[in-house]
Amino acid sequence: MPDPQPMSNRQRKIMERQAERNREMAAAKRSETRTPFREAELQFLSRHPPPDYSKALDFRQPVEVLLRDPKIKRVPLHKRISEFSDLFGVKDLQQEGGDLPENAYLHEDHPGLIYIPAAFTPTAQRNLIKGCLKDYSRHPNKSNLDTHYLVPDSGLWDLHENVFTGKQPSDDPSIFVQRKAKVDEQAGGYGSDDDDDNDSKPDNKRPKMKPKSPVPSIRTLVPIMDGTPTVPDNVPKDDPEPSAQVPILPPAQLVRKMRWITLGYQYHWPSKTYHFDQNAPFPEELSILSKAVVDAVDGVGPYPYPADDFVAEAGVVNYYQLKDRLMGHVDRSELNKEAPLVSFSFGHSCIYLLGGPTREKEPTPILLQSGDILVMTGPCRSAFHGVPRIIENTLPTYLQSLPEEPEWDIYADYLSEARINLNIRQVYPPNDSPASPVQH
Ligand code: SIN
Repeated sequence: MPDPQPMSNRQRKIMERQAERNREMAAAKRSETRTPFREAELQFLSRHPPPDYSKALDFRQPVEVLLRDPKIKRVPLHKRISEFSDLFGVKDLQQEGGDLPENAYLHEDHPGLIYIPAAFTPTAQRNLIKGCLKDYSRHPNKSNLDTHYLVPDSGLWDLHENVFTGKQPSDDPSIFVQRKAKVDEQAGGYGSDDDDDNDSKPDNKRPKMKPKSPVPSIRTLVPIMDGTPTVPDNVPKDDPEPSAQVPILPPAQLVRKMRWITLGYQYHWPSKTYHFDQNAPFPEELSILSKAVVDAVDGVGPYPYPADDFVAEAGVVNYYQLKDRLMGHVDRSELNKEAPLVSFSFGHSCIYLLGGPTREKEPTPILLQSGDILVMTGPCRSAFHGVPRIIENTLPTYLQSLPEEPEWDIYADYLSEARINLNIRQVYPPNDSPASPVQH
């Protein structure tokens, strides 16, 4: 076979134009088949014009206004959640002048949703946020960064803290977390999808060239499950290869690349299933906390689950920067689909879209705020949901820098552009679960 003739510039341009047209046609076709869930996502993803946040359901509006919506029902909690755990900041209640909720809310369009607004005192929120950033992010819990970086066992946050507090100088080579993959300098293997990282410390002299072949961006490791209808569920997939293209960053920037960590049974994002043989010790206070919530909502909604049967076996901490989002998906990897999923929000508020069993059902946009708890039971447990928007300038003042608490500064700094979600699940049916180690 003779060698193919090299393509002329004209031919290349024609091919590029054709490819562009094909892409446009594919986009147009997709828009014809947009589901109501996708429509809502697009509304809240829009930057210009900005979304109309008044369309979102705010469970913290004055109760008499909230209950004017006939679809919303207020129900007393089975137990006041403050009875259970210091994590709710019970001791600080008087000092902080607040009161913890005695009621939860149900929504007629979302059977199984139980919403508990403003469930934590500021102190309790700060304690949990510290846990999410400093403690739970350490090995053996895995994070998205572990795919590409040699994160030390002492944790990335400790490195960040050392530099932030001046314990280590910011140009100390040991503060830079190294890549797992070796960079092939010959191949021109620099650059990343994150162009804004190009001025980062030791790599600031790197040539600004694009990699020769597409490489996985760490952004692709955001847990986007069921992100498009073309990705079928539970298709076994390999772990992504460590990339030699990820940038070496100072810890203050690398912590902002943390997208998730997994607790207990480690979740395998590519195949959307658990590693049943990888069970990291579950943080004890989070077991107590989630059980307390399950107990508080016992009998509150139409799908009761005895708190005695609830065991916190897996969890995910999702870290969102202001521009991040989590596309619509269903959590269906647990063997136990009856147990509630308990989800906590901290930091900036977000728009949470709660849909139904398919993307065809129009979702309800909910304004999720710091300290709110969402419990998903019954059919709501397998409803489509997602977070298309983190809302700027919504960080509560009690999570900003506090003159009387300088050690909070590093957390306030992180939260100034972030939201954290902690969600906890039971994986096995009751009594089926192999004994779970608990972390003390
Ligand atoms: C999730 O669905 O996994 C996270 C939801 C949230 O961030 O509130």
